[in-house]
Amino acid sequence: MSDSNPTAPRSPAPNFRNWLSLAGAVLAVGSLFAFVFLVAIDTFSREGNPYLGILTYIVSPAFLIAGLTLVALGWWLRRRQLAAHPEGGEKRSLAIDLAQPRHRRFLVIFGSLSVVFLMLTAFGSYQTYRITESEAFCGKTCHTVMEPEFTRYHHGSHARVSCAECHIGSGASWYVKSKISGAYQVYSVLFKKYSTPIPTPIANLRPAQETCERCHWPEKFTGNLDRSYEHFLSDKKNTPYTVRLSLRVGGGQPGQGPFGGIHWHMNVANKVEYYASDPQRQTIPWVRMTSTSNGEVRVFRTKEFQGEPPADQIRVMDCMDCHNRPAHAYETANESVETAMALGKISTKLPKVKLVAVDALTQKYASVNEALEKIAAAMRAKYPDATDVGPSIATVQRIYQENFFPQMKADWRSYPSNIGHKDWPGCFRCHDNKHLTVDGHEKIKSSDCNACHSILAQGSGEELLKLAPQGAAFKHPGGEFDSDLLCSDCHNGAIQGK
Ligand code: HEC
Ligand code: HEC
Ligand code: HEC
Ligand code: HEC
Ligand code: HEC
Ligand code: HEC
Repeated sequence: MSDSNPTAPRSPAPNFRNWLSLAGAVLAVGSLFAFVFLVAIDTFSREGNPYLGILTYIVSPAFLIAGLTLVALGWWLRRRQLAAHPEGGEKRSLAIDLAQPRHRRFLVIFGSLSVVFLMLTAFGSYQTYRITESEAFCGKTCHTVMEPEFTRYHHGSHARVSCAECHIGSGASWYVKSKISGAYQVYSVLFKKYSTPIPTPIANLRPAQETCERCHWPEKFTGNLDRSYEHFLSDKKNTPYTVRLSLRVGGGQPGQGPFGGIHWHMNVANKVEYYASDPQRQTIPWVRMTSTSNGEVRVFRTKEFQGEPPADQIRVMDCMDCHNRPAHAYETANESVETAMALGKISTKLPKVKLVAVDALTQKYASVNEALEKIAAAMRAKYPDATDVGPSIATVQRIYQENFFPQMKADWRSYPSNIGHKDWPGCFRCHDNKHLTVDGHEKIKSSDCNACHSILAQGSGEELLKLAPQGAAFKHPGGEFDSDLLCSDCHNGAIQGK
């Protein structure tokens, strides 16, 4: 083409020679490159990540389109300009003549800058991808929404397992699902469409085989675990009361050690299915057990529930039905105060301090700041003469900050834990002696107090040194109670009766 010949028909090309189109072209090339690069990561990465999907399929195309729009806009403006001042177009000749050293230098510089630009784009998109995959992104980007899970997560045994490993994992179909739900989550955060607290359990969480069992071998034999639970009564002296249990976790596979115990549930040869009549799966009126080895099927029901549950609401029990808070568990007010007392961080010399601290934690507060002020005020008012109450107050405040999230209405009360049976029904949702076979004769076995654990020691001081290897009967510090009651009919993680 020759712009020096004014009589030649004008091609549209000169109209692209303007800064706007040039900037648009750089943007378009950069985002096209980023798009190709992200698609490659997306295809080859082990972990799925919904935010990567948003980046790849929404953000980078958006930039590409913006770039192309700029190119067109520049072209159009330039054309108008040239139509008004036709002589303006001729001064800007872009012919490249390799014989001229100046042009050669220009080409080298231009080429190197383009390579640097593309490398920066690649680096930038890779970094963005890394950020979206990190737990900081999940926890902090949607700050208020995920803050409770994020904070608790850092106090759990899975603090080194990324959110994506449990919530997204690998596998094509879950990947697509999580992309859709990830996009939905971003939308719901932007438009404040989420509910507080975020409802649990998550209806289509990936099955345990694809998450937990990638790291935990279900056949592993655990045997007995020795656990101590340190409590204090809510009396004036804050009497300590410790229960030391040997938990029969056992194993799920005969070849790996004596078969049986709590992890009997993990054996693939025993399929336990259940129907829960509430969304939080706290009431289980129907249980079906199928032995895959001999095909025997037994159905257990509570007296109140006769008939069959809706077939699409029957769930096969897996790890998450017991370990439902593996990564972000909220401590109960009781438990967190007792732990701090046992560690000496809340002074047990302050009379009735357990009652006072739990009471301060469980009032209704609109915000964290209000809570911190009122906790301090309430505790100071209770102990006007104590000079050393400061550290205890600071500890109670820290407990609040780490376990209570008023803006999301999230604390232990919204999120039941199914692992035991003291503060929530847990194992007693089934092992309560009230689930019977149709003929009414057979119960779910392993429902007596020594089936899952034996109490090695209980009480305080000297009493804890006398071990009972065969297992002692539980001496309930709260006195005798009707055997028809579940522990969680009275205990709820706060002071009893509150
Ligand atoms: C070890 C596995 C695991 C990890 C790691 C994990 N979660 Fe979860 N998460 C779960 C399970 C299981 C549930 C379902 C809880 C239930 O059914 O009660 C859940 C539930 C949730 C819920 C629903 C509300 C609730 O609290 O039950 C949110 C929100 C959530 N997780 C966010 C996160 C965030 C953010 C991270 C990373 C900071 C994370 N999770 C890390 C296993 C995990
Ligand atoms: C990416 C690997 C990984 C995944 C996925 C994973 N875990 Fe773990 N889990 C670990 C590691 C590592 C530990 C040991 C942590 C330690 O001892 O510090 C652990 C510890 C545990 C413990 C014992 C500690 C405790 O808190 O009592 C339980 C129970 C557990 N995991 C359950 C689960 C469940 C249930 C899931 C699925 C929802 C799951 N894990 C998914 C790696 C994983
Ligand atoms: C019937 C309920 C139940 C089921 C189902 C279950 N567990 Fe457990 N598991 C327990 C209990 C109870 C403990 C004892 C620890 C405790 O109380 O925190 C335990 C302990 C563990 C531990 C800790 C062992 C240790 O050495 O500290 C791991 C890891 C674990 N379970 C993983 C799993 C995985 C993975 C699955 C699914 C394949 C699973 N559990 C299924 C109830 C269950
Ligand atoms: C959804 C109902 C359900 C829940 C919840 C449940 N179990 Fe079970 N469990 C069963 C059934 C059904 C059996 C088989 C009973 C039978 O054979 O009569 C069983 C059997 C057992 C056994 C006996 C295993 C053996 O060696 O024969 C133990 C121990 C056990 N469960 C512990 C627990 C613990 C601990 C929890 C709570 C962390 C729990 N279970 C929660 C339904 C449940
Ligand atoms: C189906 C199995 C199962 C049965 C039956 C069972 N327990 Fe437990 N129990 C557990 C598990 C699992 C834990 C551990 C919970 C945890 O780690 O948080 C536990 C914990 C306890 C604790 C310590 C809790 C704490 O916070 O101090 C006591 C006390 C206890 N059980 C008493 C009993 C008594 C009394 C009975 C009989 C009425 C009974 N258990 C029947 C599974 C069972
Ligand atoms: C009738 C109501 C009731 C029932 C049912 C009940 N408790 Fe209690 N429990 C109490 C009272 C009241 C106290 C004394 C509370 C205090 O001094 O703070 C108490 C204290 C305790 C304590 C020590 C202090 C604490 O707050 O943890 C443990 C441990 C305990 N109970 C375990 C159990 C277990 C396990 C079961 C079920 C097997 C159970 N309780 C059933 C009312 C009950």
